[in-house]
Amino acid sequence: MKFDVLTLFPEMFETLNQSILGKAQEKNLIDINLVNIRDFSKDKHKKVDDTPYGGGAGMVMRADIVYDAYKSVYKEGSKMIYLTPQGKTLNQKKVEELSKEKHLILLCGHYEGIDQRVIDKIVDEEISIGDYVLTGGEIPAMVLIDSVSRYIEGVIKNDSTEEESFSNGLLEYPQYTRPEIFEDQKVPEVLISGHHQKIKQWRKEQAIKNTLKKRPDLLEKYKFSKEEKQILENLKKQN
Ligand code: ADE
Repeated sequence: MKFDVLTLFPEMFETLNQSILGKAQEKNLIDINLVNIRDFSKDKHKKVDDTPYGGGAGMVMRADIVYDAYKSVYKEGSKMIYLTPQGKTLNQKKVEELSKEKHLILLCGHYEGIDQRVIDKIVDEEISIGDYVLTGGEIPAMVLIDSVSRYIEGVIKNDSTEEESFSNGLLEYPQYTRPEIFEDQKVPEVLISGHHQKIKQWRKEQAIKNTLKKRPDLLEKYKFSKEEKQILENLKKQN
């Protein structure tokens, strides 16, 4: 998967060279190319923005400069995403869908915004990472790259994406490791029983319990098996 990021602050993306994404880049599983929009300014001061037509506070990124940056990386089949609080909120389903693309171009906005004409011309999809406003699109772009990369073959162990929160519609069950006793709290007995069937059943119960407690809204969409429905009924009775 190739990511081209159009940004005024390429240095911010240094963190993606660490940890799992750092290794994924070394192994060429993902390719993150940073494009400095400022390099496309023809102005001697490398200015990329100007005052808004119609007046008002702040500065607006120029359409021609953003367009030239885009043209430098666009290929047929590229998907162009603009990170903006006005976009559709990113969720796990969208992340999985985007991971099937070959080439994503991510446009990070700053200042008061970007000239609408270039947005209309080049953007396929607007994505927000939540209903709050950040100082720019760089952190949202990193969130998108991180979440999408986890679905690329070889980046993490396959069963990690299958079992984790959201992927199957439920939150995850709790995990434990050594020591067996921590501050008088013992690891749940079933996990040291070696009884795989019982462990599986317990984990399923815990996942449903966790979801019921923390994100009951997720259960409305979840397709329960008969056995899971019974677990949920029992949990509700206990409360
Ligand atoms: N730019 C500023 N805030 C944002 C958000 N919440 N999501 C995506 N891009 C943004």
